[in-house]
Amino acid sequence: MNFSLPAGLLNRKGSAAAVPLPSTAFGAAGAAVSPPGARADARPATPKVAIAKPASPDFIRIDNVVKKFGDSVAVDTVSLSIAKNELFALLGSSGCGKSTLLRILAGFESATSGRVFVDGEDLATLPPYKRPVNMMFQSYALFPHMTVEGNIAFGLKQEGASKAEIRERVKDVLELVQMGRYAQRKPHQLSGGQQQRVALARSLVKRPKLLLLDEPMSALDKQIRHKTQLELVSIIDKVDVTCVMVTHDQEEAMTMASRLAVMSEGKIVQVGTPSEVYEYPNTRFSAQFIGSTNLFDGNVVEDEPDHIYVESPDLETRMHISHGITGPLGMPVSISIRPERVVVSVTKPEGAVDNYARGEVSNIAYMGSYTLYHVKLASGKVVVANLSSSRLMRDGAPAYGEEVYVSWSASSGTVLTQ
Ligand SMILES: Nc1ncnc2c1ncn2[C@@H]1O[C@H](COP(=O)(O)OP(=O)(O)OP(=O)(O)O)[C@@H](O)[C@H]1O
Ligand SMILES: [Mg+2]
Repeated sequence: MNFSLPAGLLNRKGSAAAVPLPSTAFGAAGAAVSPPGARADARPATPKVAIAKPASPDFIRIDNVVKKFGDSVAVDTVSLSIAKNELFALLGSSGCGKSTLLRILAGFESATSGRVFVDGEDLATLPPYKRPVNMMFQSYALFPHMTVEGNIAFGLKQEGASKAEIRERVKDVLELVQMGRYAQRKPHQLSGGQQQRVALARSLVKRPKLLLLDEPMSALDKQIRHKTQLELVSIIDKVDVTCVMVTHDQEEAMTMASRLAVMSEGKIVQVGTPSEVYEYPNTRFSAQFIGSTNLFDGNVVEDEPDHIYVESPDLETRMHISHGITGPLGMPVSISIRPERVVVSVTKPEGAVDNYARGEVSNIAYMGSYTLYHVKLASGKVVVANLSSSRLMRDGAPAYGEEVYVSWSASSGTVLTQ
């Protein structure tokens, strides 16, 4: 199962203040957390495709970009704004058009229609050597016969920079990526993470205004991946550069990016900070792609300004959601409940009338700091709960096969209509 808590807590330049996410808890002890400025009840009832609205003026503006290869549409009418000094991630599964969009930003690929502006200039009108962009490719092959220093100096030499300038700039950038003492090594004498930093230095030495990273961690194994992600964020934070990165790894996007766009089949499904997208997914696709979730399909059976009730064939009780939506009575919806919002108890939750169900523990997966409980309901639906392992140790852990109750608060559900 693909579950991981979002780690997007880095308070990066150009980003909204990071919002602490609920800690993994035995049940939904963590109160609902809203993104800055959001009302607790302001969940999207009729989700729309979000268009980014950064606080500062647009540094990159992608305007209705379409890219077709023959009959197939790789990028489908994408509009997006990215602010200066953001680290923005394009996130989506394989083949959804991430690299194609990045290549259009780099100017390597021309859009079939639509336009891209970088710092107010239409990219299509600039000759390649005048584009303030540098791209680090999905496989960032360094020149194997050159030293670290030689690899980094290569682009500057081609530009005809003076020897003194090259020496100075290479030294500075090596210091930035903390690779000064490896200057004379060849790439094969470096670890994967060190090679990755050299590749980054090679991109940064040309002082691009826009740095594009295509799957920058793809060559790294899981252990050094996380360390390198944080290093890369801190390096990029130190220089005056706007960065767009592509990844299919949601945890990576959440760890590194100030904002991200979820892509599917060439389209942008949602744009927001990691916590906004996690807490307020606008579609079933976003809810399932970012983290994992419990989705209950049902129909609205009571619709009041400040709350709704939804009946789902998966549950014996109605679902109470503590905010209103815009839509007719009877409308089909899905309710997304994150596993860390689900409480598991051996007795019926006190006073509970709705938002609970009985079931049997059908699987227990110990994951270290948290434990995933699978609870199979009478309807056959399996509800996943993410429980704090230390709390389970303290309060007692329900056993495999034991009858339990799952429950959640009225503010835990996100209503999805798409
Ligand atoms: N030069 C090309 N000619 C024809 N089709 C292409 C070309 N480049 C990409 N495509 C198609 O466009 C779609 C998007 O490809 P793209 O490389 O942008 O995906 P991606 O999101 O980067 O995937 P991955 O995560 O696997 O790298 C795919 O269906 C791909 O086959
Ligand atoms: Mg790609």
